Amino acid sequence: MKIFLDTANLESIKMYNDMGLLDGITTNPSLLSKEGGDPHKTMEEIVQIIKGDVSLEVVATDYDGMIEEGRRLHKYGENVVVKCPMTAEGLKACKTLTAEGIPVNITLVFSPNQAILAAKAGAKYVSPFIGRLDDIGEDGMNLIKQIKQIFSNYNFGTQILVASIRHPIHIVDAATIGADVVTLPPAVLAKMLKHQLTDIGLKNFLADWEKLRVEDPNIRI
Ligand code: G3P
Repeated sequence: MKIFLDTANLESIKMYNDMGLLDGITTNPSLLSKEGGDPHKTMEEIVQIIKGDVSLEVVATDYDGMIEEGRRLHKYGENVVVKCPMTAEGLKACKTLTAEGIPVNITLVFSPNQAILAAKAGAKYVSPFIGRLDDIGEDGMNLIKQIKQIFSNYNFGTQILVASIRHPIHIVDAATIGADVVTLPPAVLAKMLKHQLTDIGLKNFLADWEKLRVEDPNIRI
C-alpha cells in the first residue's frame, strides 16, 4: 500500500519525505488556501521535492477549462496527476487528459457507481472520501470494500486512493481491504508512528542503561 500525504504544507512534506515514508502527495484548493501565499509556487515546490505522484486539482468546472488547467498543471512535472471532480465534465476531461498521457485522479467520489465511471473514463486514481461519509452517518470503509470487490471482478487498472482519512484505524482497515493508496493528513501520520508502550519501553531502557553508567561513567555502546 502506498502512503501519500494529504497536505500543501511544505514543512510536513519535507519532514516525512526525509524519513522515506512518502510515495506521493495529494493537494486540493482548500489545503492550498490553508497554507496561504502563492499556490503556484507551493505546487511547483511540492512537485520538485516529491519523486512520486503529486495530485494537483483543477478549479474549472467546465470541460475546456479543466483541460486547459490540467495541461498547465502537468507542466510542473511528469509526476503531476491532475485531479478532476466527479462530474460529467470531469469524466470527459479525464478521458481527454488520459489520452494525452496526463494521468488523472477523480476526486469527490462517494458511491461505487461513481468509482465505476471514473475507472471507465481511464482515471489512474479514484478518490473515495470516507471520512465525509462517516460524518453524515454512512459507513465510509464499506465503500472501499465495495470498490475493491468491483475493481477486482473486472481487473480495472484504476487505483483506489482512500481519502478524507480521519484516524489511524482507517489506515489499518484500508490496508486490510487491500486499497492501493491512503492519503493522510500530517496529524494522522504522526499518530500512526506513536505507541505509548514504545515511549515507556524506551524510557525504561535508558533508565536501566543509566544505572550501569552510575557504576562506571566510562561505559558506552
Ligand atoms: O484530499 C482531500 C480529502 O482527503 C479531504 O479530506 O478531511 O477535508 O474530508 P477532508
